[in-house]
Amino acid sequence: MNKELSQAFSEQINKEYFSAFLYLAMSDWLNEKGLNGAATWTYVQYQEELAHAQNLFHYMQYRDEPISFKAIADPSGNWQSPLEVFRHVLSHEKLVTESINNLATTAMKANDHAAYIFLQWYVSEQVEEEASAKEIISRLELAGDNTNALLMIDDQLGARVFNAPVVPGIPTAGA
Ligand code: FEO
Repeated sequence: MNKELSQAFSEQINKEYFSAFLYLAMSDWLNEKGLNGAATWTYVQYQEELAHAQNLFHYMQYRDEPISFKAIADPSGNWQSPLEVFRHVLSHEKLVTESINNLATTAMKANDHAAYIFLQWYVSEQVEEEASAKEIISRLELAGDNTNALLMIDDQLGARVFNAPVVPGIPTAGA
């Protein structure tokens, strides 16, 4: 793997751990507000982000590449409502999408077809993550100030369960 690509993989690992930390902070905030379903949803998202980071980590080990570890930034948000939380989810995921796309472009430019193929799972995953956030935002906007509607949405969000993703291209699939 060339040096620029290797460095970009390391940075992506850090970003995935930051994402995990951010969703954990959101889950705590939502739990404090009594929105246990949304707290569960964001906690499951935390677990997914950990798996994203872990699978990148396993891939780097499989390729015998060194990883440079950096401090993970403070994820504290200044949210005022669940709608603000989920708008933040969407804006954050858009940044991650851009980062994954840049990483895939770096792999392509490095003529590293294996890394490029490996990253396709992440490219598709980002489409799903943005779509989920958009759907929740639309529902919360429809609910507006209606507490009953908000609690119904919260119940639905609470049904989410974690399924370890299986990412092709590494011997240690899932995490
Ligand atoms: Fe790992 Fe939410 O992207």
